[in-house]
Order: sequence, then structure tokens, then C-alpha cells
Amino acid sequence: MTATRSTNHDDRDVNHVDQIFALYDTSELDDIARAVDLNADAIYTWDYERSRPALSRLYEKAKTSQWNGATDLDWSIGVDQEKVATGLMSAATDRFRQLAGAEDSPFVSWGEKEWLQVGIEMQNWQLSQFLHGEQGALMCTGLVTATTPWIDAKYYAATQVVDEARHVEVFARYLQDKLNGMYPMNPNLGSLIDDSLADPAWDVTYLGMQVMIEGLALAAFGAIHMVTPEPLLKQLLRYVMSDEARHVAFGVLTLRDYYEGLSAAEIRYRQEFAFEAAERLRNRFYMIEVWDRLGVDSKQVIKVMVDNPPPQQTDFQQMLFSKIVPNCKKLGLLDAGDGWLRQKFTELGIIQFEDFADTSDEYERFALGEDVDVSA
Ligand SMILES: [Fe+2]
Ligand SMILES: [Fe+2]
Repeated sequence: MTATRSTNHDDRDVNHVDQIFALYDTSELDDIARAVDLNADAIYTWDYERSRPALSRLYEKAKTSQWNGATDLDWSIGVDQEKVATGLMSAATDRFRQLAGAEDSPFVSWGEKEWLQVGIEMQNWQLSQFLHGEQGALMCTGLVTATTPWIDAKYYAATQVVDEARHVEVFARYLQDKLNGMYPMNPNLGSLIDDSLADPAWDVTYLGMQVMIEGLALAAFGAIHMVTPEPLLKQLLRYVMSDEARHVAFGVLTLRDYYEGLSAAEIRYRQEFAFEAAERLRNRFYMIEVWDRLGVDSKQVIKVMVDNPPPQQTDFQQMLFSKIVPNCKKLGLLDAGDGWLRQKFTELGIIQFEDFADTSDEYERFALGEDVDVSA
């Protein structure tokens, strides 16, 4: 039996304010823990043959690329959050500052003091989402070790579990020791991780986490690594990115062959999943919780932004989706069937990245110890 996604995509305008707020039931946000029901079977394999050389190479690479978050990062570095926010100011806040002159803008009377506060809260929010996303990656990958039917994928996934534990450790320590406030998990990110964990099909966990969430994270980490003036965060992100590039490659290499054998209906389900994931990942970056915390009418912010899309908003999306779209193309998801996902990515304004480099063999470029530009 082939499952179908429950959302009717044809009647929805992905750029309408109500759709952007659709997942905002904040009742769960302050709970200390949340539970997700799992539906996939844990699969033994008796085929120990190393029949997938690309995954095998990735596994060997992972074994020799381990680092220690407690000793390889210089935790003695002090972080002056105001100074960092000032240094980041235009890169972080421009796409919202450009709304100041728009009709009904909530930012009309704002000055440097208010924007500095936004900069500080954005850092708290951004790092909090990275932290919660890393915990989601830890759980998704732990699940994948059990659900993937291939021995080479089980081996590799086990190394990723260690990587993700290290990422949770370093982001939690950075937030607790160096910043001044944590945010709960964003509902768009949370619902996407929940769906990735709960899907009965083993490959959908990969699609949600390794291809969509980690593809976006790799691009976002790269952008922040490039602009942040803060040396500890720069170092931390550089180390994390060296692992994340392998993780995205793992997703693409695993699913590429598998998707060739799926039926049209099964592919359509995955196209819809990828689209819903992209939409939620985009909506996350409206940073609704930041406006709420600062006492700004968040619906008004988003409405003004949707009505007057600032050029920096387009640049920002460009950066976020520059890995996801080519990776979906590599998996055959973009044009399968009637090209449904191509149409949907066009509506989201991200189709122009389809011919960017995919991540299946890009991980060597991100390896530690090499003098490379990791921001591209
Ligand atoms: Fe990670
Ligand atoms: Fe990862």
C-alpha cells in the first residue's frame, strides 16, 4: 500500500500569511520533553557483503575524521554578544530592516538600539534552532541504523550518531556558556523532524533529515561561518560543517539508487514530502518567536514582508536552498512524474538552484585541515 500525504497542495498559496502561520500552535513549546510515535520496522540483514563502495568510502572517511568537542575548540574565548550582533548587523537584519519604509511597517520608528536587540535575539534564536535540529538529527540517525536494510548504510549511520551527539554537545555548551537566552524548537522545524521520525518508510527519514534539514543546515552554517566575527563560533561551525557535508552525501548516495526502483505513486509521496519540508524550512526563517519575544506583532511583520518582498529576502532564500534543490534533482525527484516538484519549487522561488553542485561527492572539500573556501 502506498501512503499519501494528507495536505491538499493544489488549493494552498504558500505565500499567504495564514499558511505561513499554519503550524503555530505554541501550546507544546514549553514542554520539557515531547514524544513521537515510531512506525518503521527495525530490519536485520544477513547480507554482510560490502556491496556499496560509495557508502563504504564514506564510512572509512568518517572513522578518520573524528574530533573532540571538549578539547579541539577553544572554550576560553569570551563572547561579547553585543559586539557580535553589531558586527553581524547588516548581514543578519537587512531583510527585515528593508521593511522599515513599507506601508504599515511595524519598524517605522525603529533606531539602532532596537535593531541591536533584534541582532542579539536572532543569535539566541538561531543557535537554539541549530541545537534542537542537532538533537533531531541524533534521533533520526539512531533510528536509521535500525531501519535501513543495507549493512554499509548501518555502518555509516553509526558514525553519524557519534557526530550528532558531538554537535548537540557543542551547540548546547555554546548557548549555555556564551549566549544569554534559549528559544524552544520552532514548530516548522519540530513538525518536520517528527514527520521524518514517524514515517513508516525508512528512506523518508533520510529524505527529511539528511537531504532536507541537513542540506539547509550545511548552507546556513556556511553563510554564518563566513560572516560571523566571533572566533569560537567560526571554529565550531567549521568543525561541524566537515561532518555535515558527509551526512548530506550519505543521504544522497543512499537514496539515489533506491529511488530508481520506486513506483510513480511512491515517488509522488516523496516529492510531496520534500515540498512540505522546503516550505516549513523556509517558514522557520521568518523567526516569528523573535518578534513575539520582542513584543512586535509578528503577523504584521510577515504580512508586510510578503506584500513587499525585500531583495535581501531573495538572497537569503538563495543561500538556504542552494544545496537542497540540486540534491533533489540528483535523486530524480524534481522531474519525476509530471514534474510536480519542479512546479512547487518554482512557486517557492527556489528552482534557480537546480544546477548548483550537488553534495554527493562534495564532502572532501569540507574536510578539516585543508585550506578551502567552504562558504560557496
Ligand atoms: Fe549535526
Ligand atoms: Fe548531521
